[in-house]
Amino acid sequence: MSASEQNNLSEIIEEQLPGDIFHFIQHAGDTANSLQQRIYLVGGVVRDLLLERINLDIDLVVEGDAIKLAQAINSEGRAQLVTHPRFGTAKLKWGHRSVDFATARAESYAHPGALPTIHPGTINDDLKRRDFAINAMAVELNPRHFGELIDPFDGCGDLNRQHIRVLHEKSFVDDATRIWRALRYEQRLDFTIEPATRLLLKRDIVYLKTISGDRIRHELELVLREEQPEKALCRAFELDVLTTLHPALKGDSWLIEAFKAARVRCLPDLPHPDFYLALLCYRLTANHLEQLIQYLRPAKTTTQVLQDTIAIKEKTKELKSRRLAPSEVYEILNGYHPVAYAVNAIAAGASAADYIELYLNVLRNVKPALTGEALKKLGVKQGPRIKEVLSKLRHARLDGKITTKKQEEEWVAKRHSS
Ligand code: CTP
Repeated sequence: MSASEQNNLSEIIEEQLPGDIFHFIQHAGDTANSLQQRIYLVGGVVRDLLLERINLDIDLVVEGDAIKLAQAINSEGRAQLVTHPRFGTAKLKWGHRSVDFATARAESYAHPGALPTIHPGTINDDLKRRDFAINAMAVELNPRHFGELIDPFDGCGDLNRQHIRVLHEKSFVDDATRIWRALRYEQRLDFTIEPATRLLLKRDIVYLKTISGDRIRHELELVLREEQPEKALCRAFELDVLTTLHPALKGDSWLIEAFKAARVRCLPDLPHPDFYLALLCYRLTANHLEQLIQYLRPAKTTTQVLQDTIAIKEKTKELKSRRLAPSEVYEILNGYHPVAYAVNAIAAGASAADYIELYLNVLRNVKPALTGEALKKLGVKQGPRIKEVLSKLRHARLDGKITTKKQEEEWVAKRHSS
């Protein structure tokens, strides 16, 4: 049955949601009824129920008071309750599950890019403030109407047409992060941004400037957590959105191949978003990267990964220039973030990549048998000298000049005992 033919989703809900969540939302509907409130399943989970995609991000909207209702649902205290009275929201957590409650609200925006001003409202108000028709559907959970679909903007029609469509022509002006969201849903679901929305998106790209770097970074992270982030990034490049992050960024066949290689390299896990981000930034110069870091202000480790990636890239020029002894390779490559090596192993040309693999698989594990303590006992002066001798021993080992502990002791006795 196509999405548009559904107007009661109770069977789909029962079939697709895990039993404990199904019983939980039934109980939530019963409790809301006894408090004369109305409760609805909303947003992404409704979209994904209709698409038969697994989504356990359960968002509930309450006409009434979400916090009071969450407290009543949890009257036996089996779940952990977290409330945010200022926003009229609550979260119930049990085991590995969690469910979000929000009080139905109407929104207005003081100016483009501002966070919205919020007032209590009806479910229709709440759906009206949302990004796309496919995300602006709700399912009632009160017993007499359990499973009834509320779809004021023909989200079902869009699911059938495979369209991403905004609800009104000022949607991207109100919140330009929706531009990134449109690309993400389009590419995740293999849909198309419908023509009028696409024109609005192009028109409103300038409003991305009204959004803080922190919020843009959050959107980019969501893209990088998609199954194939390169799809949304290439589409962002095609629509001149990617270059709003930095004009030198590109979404092209190089990026597609690099992201695919990252997934193979990280098996059985998925690449961390930092890994993808570093690949995206790989072709930037150090100066360009600093500009991007100033804008997005990523976490400290992410910044480290990005800077180290470019630093290693610069050094791979030395790796390509002539044949190097293992100790030289070690010195050139030592001291960076592990992800930065992996990124360069993928992105640098073949010969540099060989050196990086050699460093990762062999050289970085080579250590002298003697410790600092042992050197002291052998008469090496305390202080920086110890580090120096350890480093020389490591080099000698790396280049195969020393292979045993006994040889190390002899080497120290000969040259460094005073
Ligand atoms: N929403 C919106 N505008 C935004 C962010 C969110 O209208 N800028 C609405 C959408 O209705 C969305 C819901 O809030 O469905 C929940 O947001 P989020 O969790 O980000 O969306 P999901 O649809 O659940 O997305 P995903 O499938 O990626 O988790």
